[in-house]
Amino acid sequence: MSVLPGVLLNTLLKVTTLQSKVREVLFFHMKAAQYNTYGDSSVIEINSNAPQPVLKEGQVLVAVHAASINPFDYKLRFGYMKDGIPLSFPVTLGGDFSGIVTDVAKSVTEVQIGDAVYGQALIVNGGSGSLAEYAAANTKNISQKPKKVTFLEAASLPLVGVSAVQALEEHIKLYSGQRIVIHGGAGGIGSIAIQLAKHLGAYVITTVGTADVDFAKHLGADEVIDYKTQKFEEIVENVDAVFDTVGGETTNKSFAVLKKGGVLVSMAGQPDPDLAKQHGVTALTQSTGTIAGRLNRLAELVDQGVIKPQIDKVFPLDQAAQAFDYLEKGHPKGKVVVKIKE
Ligand SMILES: NC(=O)c1ccc[n+]([C@@H]2O[C@H](COP(=O)([O-])OP(=O)(O)OC[C@H]3O[C@@H](n4cnc5c(N)ncnc54)[C@H](OP(=O)(O)O)[C@@H]3O)[C@@H](O)[C@H]2O)c1
Repeated sequence: MSVLPGVLLNTLLKVTTLQSKVREVLFFHMKAAQYNTYGDSSVIEINSNAPQPVLKEGQVLVAVHAASINPFDYKLRFGYMKDGIPLSFPVTLGGDFSGIVTDVAKSVTEVQIGDAVYGQALIVNGGSGSLAEYAAANTKNISQKPKKVTFLEAASLPLVGVSAVQALEEHIKLYSGQRIVIHGGAGGIGSIAIQLAKHLGAYVITTVGTADVDFAKHLGADEVIDYKTQKFEEIVENVDAVFDTVGGETTNKSFAVLKKGGVLVSMAGQPDPDLAKQHGVTALTQSTGTIAGRLNRLAELVDQGVIKPQIDKVFPLDQAAQAFDYLEKGHPKGKVVVKIKE
């Protein structure tokens, strides 16, 4: 054998290795906000070299345009659920997202490459996390993005919007003329629930902090109670339903404001069954299922102009830790969103 083919082969190999390295760096790695240990926002790291997620059966790959963050994301990061939901590190933060489908697993027929979608990619549901340039999400946890809002707005909606739809339309079955108390009306869920309850024709009483009174009125609430200076249980009586996004003592005190046969849905903790029996009401904890059917219903309400996304502040991905600090300590009105694609 002559020397030349060997040299050529070597050169070729070098070029190919270089190409695959370039491909790997350029195309198969991505930026992601991750953590490697439980803790406060100081454990959040921006990893510019995270591997792109590999699709599992029933999943799609999404180029994430925007993500939003929820209390669940920091509760998980703090390790509050580590006994029930043990994590394997590194963990990519976030669940809610909007973006464009760039790949689909073989079995997927519901969505196609190029579709604009929104939904959840939570790691605890088998997704890969949404605070990243790419996310793998289960088809059952996404749907077509609402058409009349931006990617930033769409990303603010999945968990909070579906929570409101599931509670008011499915559990409470709220209808025109009923009176409802919505606790935490300025929060992520509350700010959407007020709008939906008004659309369903209900009389809405909401509890918010002093700084949020005007915001809640602007959302359409008929009565706003300042929980810092007033006691709702001394002001309200005989309502048909309570939607509680606060929990604890707020849940316990809510039984007394319901009429007999009323419904209490709590997003935060298990209502006391003895108190429910004593007051003759139905009380339940909602575990929100961010599934395609409900995301479709939410998108329909958004495109009809019934629900307007409520974004307080937008952060770039590099400032994921600051975004969490703001959510955890900044008392946002509505949602905190992370912009991922320019
Ligand atoms: N079970 C499930 O499947 C599920 C799903 C989604 C969310 N959640 C839970 O639901 C809760 C709410 O979620 P979120 O996204 O709406 O949270 P959020 O955006 O943090 O909103 C909570 C709101 O409650 C207000 N608040 C605090 N104490 C209050 C009180 N005593 N009375 C009235 N309002 C009060 C806060 O106002 P300030 O700014 O004044 O503190 C804030 O505006 C969280 O605990 C979350 O983990 C559960």
